[in-house]
Amino acid sequence: MATTWAAGEYPLMGQRLKAAAQRTVDRARVAPGDRVLDIATGTGNAALMAAAREGVVVGVDLEPALLEVARQRAAELDLPVDWREGDAGALPVPDGAFDAVVSVFGIMYASDQAGAAAELARACAPGARVVLANWTPDGFLPAMGAALSPFLPPPPLGAGSPSRWGDPAVVGELLGGAGLTPGDVQAEALELDFEDRLSAVAFLVRTAGNVVAERPRLEAEGRWPQLLATLAALVTERGTARDGAVVLRLDYLLVTATKPSS
Ligand SMILES: C[S@@+](CC[C@H](N)C(=O)[O-])C[C@H]1O[C@@H](n2cnc3c(N)ncnc32)[C@H](O)[C@@H]1O
Repeated sequence: MATTWAAGEYPLMGQRLKAAAQRTVDRARVAPGDRVLDIATGTGNAALMAAAREGVVVGVDLEPALLEVARQRAAELDLPVDWREGDAGALPVPDGAFDAVVSVFGIMYASDQAGAAAELARACAPGARVVLANWTPDGFLPAMGAALSPFLPPPPLGAGSPSRWGDPAVVGELLGGAGLTPGDVQAEALELDFEDRLSAVAFLVRTAGNVVAERPRLEAEGRWPQLLATLAALVTERGTARDGAVVLRLDYLLVTATKPSS
């Protein structure tokens, strides 16, 4: 199934998110031989890190074009990963098949949140470790989504806001409701630095497939400059200047859970 995730240059953003994938895989304590599932793997950051730790890894994503990038990276690194096209709401994996299940800014985008949590729990073997990195509701990317929402198509009817997964109470309910035992949550942040404000805006636009996909329409409507100005204002408001660079801080929650042993 094709989505707008690959309409822009998401792989460039994926490169900037590697540190979060590393924290996630570290927190999941992936050890040689562990069966690991990376939900919404994108270009494969966490899956490849788990494979480098000799996990037996499956990476699932909706977007074939991003999976193709992941496949190429795996070939270059000579790391075996089983890449599967599929939806977090209907994972193409058997029941109880994984010792560790991770998702880095991924499962949070499933439109049926309770359904995706149930699928995550179904994939877990008894005692499995779950670690998720989820943007927090007050962080930069949710703020960007809100600022740009007047320019973009509405989310699917009934879809909850993705950053609910970055709210400790709500994510605890989602995971607990699926039969997992919620563990600790930890506030984390990534910092993205840019030469200047305009470079930050250009990067955010070219890596956001949902924005790139709407550009022809917005240009035809004469609203593209307004979108750029809106984003520039947000970068000015939220960015900080450091050593001649503009730094955007992306807050996220590292969420853990376990599948009960019996
Ligand atoms: C922000 S990217 C994160 C990708 C990757 N985990 C990373 O760390 O770079 C979000 C990913 O979620 C995928 N995605 C969105 N909704 C999905 C769904 N319902 N099922 C599976 N993948 C989904 C997109 O295709 C995209 O690859």
